[in-house]
Amino acid sequence: MNIKSTLLASVVALAPFAVSAEVTIGFSQIGSESGWRAAETTVTKQQAEARGINLKFADAQQKQENQISALRSFIAQGVDAILIAPVVATGWDEILEEAKDADIPVILLDRTVDASDDLYLTAVTSDLVHEGMVAGQWLVDDQAGADCRIVELQGTTGSSPAIDRKKGFEQAIAGHDNLEIVRSQTGDFTRSQGKVVMESFLKAEGGENICALYAHNDDMAVGAIQAVREAGLKPGVDIKIVAIDAVPDAHLALANGEMNATIELTPNMAGPALDALASYLAYGTVPPKWIQTESRLYTAADDNQAVYEIKKGLGY
Ligand code: AHR
Repeated sequence: MNIKSTLLASVVALAPFAVSAEVTIGFSQIGSESGWRAAETTVTKQQAEARGINLKFADAQQKQENQISALRSFIAQGVDAILIAPVVATGWDEILEEAKDADIPVILLDRTVDASDDLYLTAVTSDLVHEGMVAGQWLVDDQAGADCRIVELQGTTGSSPAIDRKKGFEQAIAGHDNLEIVRSQTGDFTRSQGKVVMESFLKAEGGENICALYAHNDDMAVGAIQAVREAGLKPGVDIKIVAIDAVPDAHLALANGEMNATIELTPNMAGPALDALASYLAYGTVPPKWIQTESRLYTAADDNQAVYEIKKGLGY
């Protein structure tokens, strides 16, 4: 299968929902902090529509209390199931208990929670620690023993990707004394904060003293690229840039030499989630607690212009 058919298949391969046209599912989305998040929302709506599911969508605008209220409302309405992308990892036990007591299966999308796994049906996520490790290993190989002072843009504080991507990156560079994280701060997964925080890193350290940026998502990296440019430096050359998501703009930056690597996170979490749910509701088939999506490394060696052309119309 070529790149185009692989990407399209992962986003639009749709199987009919195996239960009935009457199924109602509540989806509590975090918000729209990143291009990746926008794509996940688009794809989830497409996947539900293709299966004839009545999807009730609630945008939490980055607030856990809004997600808890949305879940409570879904439970009161008696939905058949709930999808949730949890903004942070902790604080979910009570509401998940309420869903369980109401016999409503909950599926986690793209982020994990610190709660007993008997409180949800399954979690569809990537291996978030592995993503950080791939990013770190890319830098280890790229630097080949040269001294490198790294700045890190973390995702939303307390979110599982921020925690796990940091952990994985640190594991990968551990034991490589030439590599040192000199600044690390949250950029909240947004372009605007990525730029603001990178500006502060450049001011505090001096651009010439920063060798690489590790950003927990591409949107922050794209914001930071602008900050590096405005500081009179060449992103991707003077400061190496590695991030996660593989959104279209990251492929463009890779194609232009302004970024060096990104690890792909599929926005199609809903497809596997709804397939698992269909089997569960129709036949009682209990899915594994973790349905893992693939993580793929893209570098300048790939045909990023071609991938950009394919991805740009997919809802990012
Ligand atoms: O949970 C997945 C992360 O959330 C994505 O990497 C990031 O872009 C998003 O906001």
